[in-house]
Amino acid sequence: MPDLSTTYLGLALKNPLVPSSTPLSHDLDAILHLEDAGAAAIVMHSLFEEDVRHDEQMIDRFLVHPDSFGEATGHLPFGHDYQSRLDSYLEQIQRLKSRLAIPVVASLNGSSLSGWVELGKEMQAAGADALELNAWYMPSDPKVSSEAIEDHHVALLKELKTVVSIPVSMKLSPFFSSLPHFVHQVEAAGVAGVSLFNRFFQPDIDLETLTVVDRVQLSSSADTLLAMRWIAILRGSTKLSLAATGGVHGAEDALKMLLAGADVVHMASALLKRGPQALSEVLAGMTRWLEEREYTSVAQMKGSMSQQNSPNPSDFARAAYLHVLGSFTPPAGVRY
Ligand SMILES: Cc1cc2nc3c(=O)[nH]c(=O)nc-3n(C[C@H](O)[C@H](O)[C@H](O)COP(=O)(O)O)c2cc1C
Repeated sequence: MPDLSTTYLGLALKNPLVPSSTPLSHDLDAILHLEDAGAAAIVMHSLFEEDVRHDEQMIDRFLVHPDSFGEATGHLPFGHDYQSRLDSYLEQIQRLKSRLAIPVVASLNGSSLSGWVELGKEMQAAGADALELNAWYMPSDPKVSSEAIEDHHVALLKELKTVVSIPVSMKLSPFFSSLPHFVHQVEAAGVAGVSLFNRFFQPDIDLETLTVVDRVQLSSSADTLLAMRWIAILRGSTKLSLAATGGVHGAEDALKMLLAGADVVHMASALLKRGPQALSEVLAGMTRWLEEREYTSVAQMKGSMSQQNSPNPSDFARAAYLHVLGSFTPPAGVRY
């Protein structure tokens, strides 16, 4: 049996499979089943900056200035037993920590620089083993330069690092124009790892109602290639922990991410679609593949196909692009 262990954000994990941030972590039983299926750690659903702000505003409106609402205060959702989303989140960290043997990574999601990252301190106090910072930001303002956006991310990370001592990972967008340069900036600012990539759910247009609609779009295996290339490129230039997130549904997807240089492989869509079985199947398939090829450990194969270790590094760069475009052949029977 090969040694599947890996290290992620300084945490020793029994294998590289880590359920990614999804609503599943609201449910203790679901997470216990994932642990039974072999999950090596868990990233919790995010606590959103907007949710925390909303709670603060409501409490301020109704409890600090109750007179302005007259009798309506009698029907308010928060008496002594009112629980803010922050309180529920912290309780869930404690619940998961008390029942799981595997590390728990809490997730903070927001983008403004204004003290909300202080919440990281409370997550740490509640027992989180590490934090994932998801600075989801849509760069749609033509007046904001890419440099300003990068500086903002670094400032946000630094703000968080002033209040927590547990390791922090940053979940990144695939749209940074010079990703390795940016990764070096966050490395210098004290991040312990990066998670590639944040999934940007795309709004759609409903042609019947002519409205913009949001739908959860789950991934497929084809989505792995984006993170796989960037992990292969980054592996040789950073010591940070690298987490691959996006499109891991089968053992082959996970193995490719590890060969490219990932330390852990996150799974979300596959678990939402097929439950804990998806994780145990990936684990079994990975183990089988390693045994068949006589690898003794994950460490032995990790990064062996990164750009740095590739006999032809341009396979991950422009040469591959030229080759792919030149190799297209029209499907049989199609006339142009
Ligand atoms: C229903 C759903 C909820 C998610 N919620 C979060 C979240 O709260 N925070 C976060 O950082 N990512 C969230 N994600 C993104 C996933 O953690 C993951 O990065 C993404 O889905 C790509 O992985 P996959 O291809 O395995 O689904 C969510 C994804 C889905 C499908």
